[in-house]
Amino acid sequence: MTELHDRPPLAVVTGANTGLGLETAKGLLSEGYRVIVAARNPDKGHAAVGALRGESPGVDVRFEPLDLDSLASVRDFAATLRASETSLALLINNAGIMALPLRKLTQDGFERQLGVNYLGHFLLTSLLLPLLVSAPAPRVVQLSSLAHRGGQIDFDDLQGERRYDPWRAYRQSKLAMLLFSQALQRHSDDEGWGLTSLAAHPGLARTALFDHGVKSRAVVGSLFKVLMPWISQTAAAGE
Ligand SMILES: NC(=O)c1ccc[n+]([C@@H]2O[C@H](COP(=O)([O-])OP(=O)(O)OC[C@H]3O[C@@H](n4cnc5c(N)ncnc54)[C@H](OP(=O)(O)O)[C@@H]3O)[C@@H](O)[C@H]2O)c1
Repeated sequence: MTELHDRPPLAVVTGANTGLGLETAKGLLSEGYRVIVAARNPDKGHAAVGALRGESPGVDVRFEPLDLDSLASVRDFAATLRASETSLALLINNAGIMALPLRKLTQDGFERQLGVNYLGHFLLTSLLLPLLVSAPAPRVVQLSSLAHRGGQIDFDDLQGERRYDPWRAYRQSKLAMLLFSQALQRHSDDEGWGLTSLAAHPGLARTALFDHGVKSRAVVGSLFKVLMPWISQTAAAGE
């Protein structure tokens, strides 16, 4: 066996600069994985790597730029990885945005929640498949949400062009991730890739996810703020 094959297994965590992604990276490093912090903001990405190394000196962690708002950035990330690595044991599609009050578009013109949460991760997973199937027992995890339960894939208005509702778009994007998770497992089984495709709901965790989304009406919003510490858990508990 060459030295390369003796390296610890590699994990990529999207949006690992904060929240659940950062905690997940921490957990994986403690399990002996090499971890790539895939983040859109280089300052935040490097700061996260610094914090992870500070907490556990000697861990093998690095930052690579990935902006899921841009398919070109996803392609660049995948190309860099494919040029520098021989296999990928674990891909965690964690990065996400929730309930943007106004309809925004990705750089490629897709409704942003569908684009960032689902389409970007779909392309990323597809481009990293050659590396994944080169690992002994590869796993791909989608960070979905119980919010998928009220969701529907609106094929007549996928991009919310006729009617945009912040929560409807979020629920649709999380349902799309779940459906993708199931389809990926079916394809792997049919093709004999040996891949395990998983999806997770992390519980209600206190993270920045709630900072950018649509705000509830004043009374409901204040009540939610007061109750949040009681009804939610820390990001570390959600990992
Ligand atoms: N927290 C919960 O209660 C909860 C419940 C159910 C599901 N989830 C799911 O869990 C996942 C993680 O959420 P979280 O609570 O940890 O939220 P968070 O703290 O807001 O973290 C979200 C991460 O996604 C990144 N991100 C956003 N847009 C991106 C883009 N265009 N390209 C690359 N990265 C991008 C953010 O980067 P920046 O720091 O640069 O913004 C951040 O690193 C999400 O998929 C969310 O839907 C969370």
